[in-house]
Amino acid sequence: MTTTSTVRRDLVNAPLLVAASGQTPARTPVWFMRQAGRSLPEYRKLREGVPMMQACFDAEMIAEITLQPVRRHDVDAAILFSDIVVPLRAAGIDLDIVPGTGPVVAQPVRDQAGVRALPELDLDVLKPVADAIGLLIDQLGEVALIGFAGAPFTLASYLIEGGPSRNHERTKALMKSDPETWHALLGRIADYTTEFLKLQVSAGVDAIQLFDSWAGALSEKDYREYVFPHSQRVLAALAYAGVPRIHFGVGTAELLPAMREAGADVVGVDWRLPLDEAVRRLEAAAPAAPKPVVQGNLDPAVLFAGWDVVEREVRRIVAEGKAAAGHVFNLGHGVLPETDPAVLTRVAELVHSIR
Ligand code: CP3
Repeated sequence: MTTTSTVRRDLVNAPLLVAASGQTPARTPVWFMRQAGRSLPEYRKLREGVPMMQACFDAEMIAEITLQPVRRHDVDAAILFSDIVVPLRAAGIDLDIVPGTGPVVAQPVRDQAGVRALPELDLDVLKPVADAIGLLIDQLGEVALIGFAGAPFTLASYLIEGGPSRNHERTKALMKSDPETWHALLGRIADYTTEFLKLQVSAGVDAIQLFDSWAGALSEKDYREYVFPHSQRVLAALAYAGVPRIHFGVGTAELLPAMREAGADVVGVDWRLPLDEAVRRLEAAAPAAPKPVVQGNLDPAVLFAGWDVVEREVRRIVAEGKAAAGHVFNLGHGVLPETDPAVLTRVAELVHSIR
């Protein structure tokens, strides 16, 4: 890793950015969703006694946690240490991240009055995030920095359910029974998300990822009617910046063309669909569009199966990724907390070694 202090980094040859633009980089870029986090002992040590929400508003801590996996794994990208609920918290919404559970919202939003009561986002509160990005781009050298935010549907699910949900029943009930309130809520969240991403881009991130983790719970028809316009507005608002926009969700095999159409430069794919099949679906849906770029898609559970299995799967995925104009190697979802980080290091090394 090189260290520069004043000069804006020259990332024209950064493999992640080359692949994202549909060109062929010197090596296949690789990073891991949730690479910063509990799989690393140095992360657990630093976070001891520091609540998640406190860590997310501490510039030094954000920068240090973001760098930890880069030092270990020789990945091609750092992902900013933060959380999808950070802009909601910055707006003053009473919520917390409960260890082992996830985001918990004190007063779920389920009606028009609740939507109207949602506060304005105070960008000053997010200053530590911008400061952390400033610290990071000085230290990352040729490693790209990915900023991120939660997509309107996934954030709406937490706000409506009040916490994590298996079936998203209250979310879907509101969506179907009161479309007016639904669209008002998603519009409001899209504003938060857009402002959070713009702040990250202004501070210097090199790419952004929109996490619509739970969008796979919807049919394509419902996705297009109730979610697509809001995610599209977020992604369109970022187009001015020229940074690649990655759009990811879990269980989205049926939604990939719509998620691309929403304004993605790179389409994230989970492990349920081989990448060459994902490319085939994307091309069939938009024959006139440029060849797609994909990100993914090793099953995070495979990392527990022993090296022979991991190696076979990694080689298969790199080969299937050749069907795309560009391939960013990643997992199909986040690193599981019990993962042996040494296996992640080896995966990055293997991906880089395959020609
Ligand atoms: O390394 C990275 O990927 C960057 C950091 C990152 C975090 N959250 C840190 C975090 C990112 C990109 C996220 C995104 C996020 N947060 C998503 C979308 C990605 C996905 O996994 O689908 C979602 C749905 C959330 C909401 C959330 N926050 C959950 C479900 C959890 C896990 C709860 C638990 O304890 O199991 C969190 C907490 C969280 N976010 C942790 C980290 C490192 C763990 C908290 C801790 O270490 O105490």
